[in-house]
Amino acid sequence: MTIHIGAEPGDIAPTVLMPGDPYRAKWAAETFLQDVRCINKVRGMLGFTGNWHGHPVTIQGSGMGMPSLSIYANELIKDFDVQTLIRIGSCGGMQEHVGIRDVILAMTASTLSTPSRGIFKELNFAPCADYGLLAAAHKAAETKDVLTHVGGIYSSDVFYDERPDLNEQMVRHGILGVEMEAAELYNLAARYGRRALAVLTVSDHLITNEALPAEDREKSFGDMVEIALEAAFA
Ligand code: HPA
Repeated sequence: MTIHIGAEPGDIAPTVLMPGDPYRAKWAAETFLQDVRCINKVRGMLGFTGNWHGHPVTIQGSGMGMPSLSIYANELIKDFDVQTLIRIGSCGGMQEHVGIRDVILAMTASTLSTPSRGIFKELNFAPCADYGLLAAAHKAAETKDVLTHVGGIYSSDVFYDERPDLNEQMVRHGILGVEMEAAELYNLAARYGRRALAVLTVSDHLITNEALPAEDREKSFGDMVEIALEAAFA
């Protein structure tokens, strides 16, 4: 048991998928895993462990934003010795050629700041994905009926942005999408020598202002979960 995860050490698998939304953790576990059991209910941040093709997998909600993700990822790494952490989440598209429902594999995650700022200070550390996971996810995505992009994303601290100029700079520098968690996941994975990747579904678009209709969400998010699982055990 940790402060935020009410599980015993054996309850958490070495591979953890992390959606922001705890109810999406429940949906993904019930849809894709066998022998599913709930392993965390603390603060309603649900976590589930089951099997995928015989491999143990935990799907644990991270909450929204890097401070929240950092709490769960720190405890998963330091107290439960998790080796592979894959964020599965949504993002806002930032390029014309990136469409709603497309999948983005986040090679790097730019930020204004992360919870690790306190240790990096003046240093601009470049948070990046594990290459093996990234390559395996790309291969898995090629077998699905979903357009997949690989490149840089932006992990923002705010959803309701009062600084549109920051998004403009990200767009100008080819950033594919914006979300709020990946950079700190990559920082922690680098610090503790673990594998991390963010697999993201484009749910809304900052340039076209489109948004994924509610009825399309499950199918699109399902592709992302399958890509993450196939990459984890490739
Ligand atoms: N901004 C930040 N995070 C997000 C967005 C967005 O537009 N869409 C999904 N996650």
